[in-house]
Amino acid sequence: MRVITSITEVQVLIEKLRREGKIISLVPTMGYLHQGHVSLMKEGKRRGDVLVISIFVNPTQFGTGEDYDVYPRDLERDKKLAERAGVDIIFSPNALEIYPRAYQTYVQVEEVTKNLCGLSRPTHFRGVTTVVAKLFNIVKPHIAIFGEKDFQQLVTIRQMVRDLNYDIEIVGMPTHREEDGLAMSSRNAYLNPPERKAARSLYRSLLRASELFTSGEQQVEKIIGEVKKIIASEGIITVDYIKICDTENLQDLIVVDREAVLALAVKVGKARLIDNLVLKPLH
Ligand code: PAJ
Repeated sequence: MRVITSITEVQVLIEKLRREGKIISLVPTMGYLHQGHVSLMKEGKRRGDVLVISIFVNPTQFGTGEDYDVYPRDLERDKKLAERAGVDIIFSPNALEIYPRAYQTYVQVEEVTKNLCGLSRPTHFRGVTTVVAKLFNIVKPHIAIFGEKDFQQLVTIRQMVRDLNYDIEIVGMPTHREEDGLAMSSRNAYLNPPERKAARSLYRSLLRASELFTSGEQQVEKIIGEVKKIIASEGIITVDYIKICDTENLQDLIVVDREAVLALAVKVGKARLIDNLVLKPLH
């Protein structure tokens, strides 16, 4: 496994591998790797000849007052985990390598970034699409793998790839969970024991909603009401949003009469956590 911090160096190496006919897969991450990341890496390994992961805590996707400075970082631990997962190249540039002085170009996907996390984090997706576009240009992968845990991010990246004609296959992978259902996230490291325990209610509430939906409930207000009740019973969780949206355009629904995503974002202690579940009508 090679660890590379320079853009030029990674470009030269990938150019050589591409000329040898190798299929390159890329898993972009912000590091502090967990089993969710590992499931993406395994899929990348399965689909390609050379597995590249990027580890870069991207400053432009954090708003002012958010957790950029304290976001967990542990490159040594990440290297070991990546090696075991079969990673061939770790690209881990520093912030100035990606955003040199006087940097001024950004990629903005419009409609699908407005709802959900876009409401409370208005500059977040602009940072995500900018860095992912740059990673695509630097690594030039044939395949890039993302998690459905960040559902709006996945929809946004698919939109960017269509709109900007990137010749890259985007693969979405299911959410990897802890045994009690909590979606794995680097930010779970912020949770103290009572917060960690309360956070179990997120997935529990999603499952309850899905049960309601499969037993015939289609009214968004009713389903969300139930989710709110379960989360509120924990006391220490503050809701940012709980919404049910069309999976294609991420617009709010009133009745679940098509494929929809039930998505939520909450604050538990210092951690902002998100989770979601797709609701599929049977007819
Ligand atoms: P990060 O939060 O490190 O996540 C990297 C990738 O892992 C994303 O595609 C994310 O959806 C996926 N992932 C996270 N938790 C997961 C879980 N429990 N199960 C399955 N997949 C999971 O998302 C980012 O970084 C950044 O926004 C990035 C795309 C790297 C751009 O900076």
